[in-house]
Amino acid sequence: MLVAGALTAPSPLNIQPWLIRFPAPGRIDLFIDPDRILPALDPYFRQILISHGAFLENLDIAARSCGIRTDITAFPAGWPGARLDLADPVARIDITDDRAVENDPLAAALSLRCTNRRLYRDTAISQDTLTHLSDAYDQCFIPMGLLSDRGSRLAIAGFLERATVVELAGEERFRELRSFLAATHPEPRVDGYGLPHLGLSPLFRFGARLRMALLTEERRDAFLKETLIRLARQQAATAAVYGWITTTGNLRIEQLNAGRAFERVALTSASLGLSLQPMNQILSDCPGMEDLRHELYDFLSIPETRTIQMFFRIGYAARVPHTSRRPAESIIR
Ligand SMILES: Cc1cc2nc3c(=O)[nH]c(=O)nc-3n(C[C@H](O)[C@H](O)[C@H](O)COP(=O)(O)O)c2cc1C
Repeated sequence: MLVAGALTAPSPLNIQPWLIRFPAPGRIDLFIDPDRILPALDPYFRQILISHGAFLENLDIAARSCGIRTDITAFPAGWPGARLDLADPVARIDITDDRAVENDPLAAALSLRCTNRRLYRDTAISQDTLTHLSDAYDQCFIPMGLLSDRGSRLAIAGFLERATVVELAGEERFRELRSFLAATHPEPRVDGYGLPHLGLSPLFRFGARLRMALLTEERRDAFLKETLIRLARQQAATAAVYGWITTTGNLRIEQLNAGRAFERVALTSASLGLSLQPMNQILSDCPGMEDLRHELYDFLSIPETRTIQMFFRIGYAARVPHTSRRPAESIIR
């Protein structure tokens, strides 16, 4: 039950990069699954550690609702540097029955949260609601920025569209992305995501499937890239609010904690009836992105020494179906 709750966490392209072992009774070790990494899109495991942070946050929330306390030790084998040894656990979680543990009201949102890539309605988010979002976690070390004025949103949308073009220009990156897009794999999958999760209308989905079936592989890839760029432009243009989470530097522990903070924002959004989509293309460590990222940092007045760990849009939209998850047993070794 705890693992099932944790598994609802977000991960880049829904790769679900988590692996757990039970080294002793009441103890869980959480690892990065070496078979579920993104060497081209996330060569330094930054995004993967963010998704491990989200997994830990969910695990703690799910545990509380079962009267279980979690004591989480990050990197119990010693703090890693820039290089991560995948044989070492990312976290050790000791669990104990504790009737005094406080329930987390976000437990109800675990089954609600999902990434919504639809176009958002032209409806402003009230100041009260934004205050709730800002209270989602303690911002002392990991502040969150929010921007809702029209001029800034337009400028940010421009950055994100350009970033999508840069990200998709790398053949390896595109191949990696395509391998997790169920649009290009007709058989049902327990990871990745498909056309319905991209927020495309049923009519567009029908047309897109037809075209993809008829085109040569090369033309199909070009069509997919065009569609993804157009979609990013439309998604970015319909954000009601842009949000971002920064850390002082870019240490492994900061990436993990940013993931925990982000998950609380995403769960709070879900509980408030808001839709949220991470739009992280501009944070990608790929050639050509650095200049664009400098421009964004400048625009947001974020010092270059800080690191934006997550960038996302928020707004109101119709629901989207949930993405699939692997069965809990398949992440346990
Ligand atoms: C670190 C991280 C980066 C992500 N980046 C993006 C992104 O750039 N664009 C996007 O549409 N979704 C992004 N996502 C959302 C994932 O694709 C999503 O969590 C995953 O497909 C699972 O679906 P769910 O969130 O609906 O459960 C990101 C998620 C994480 C944790």
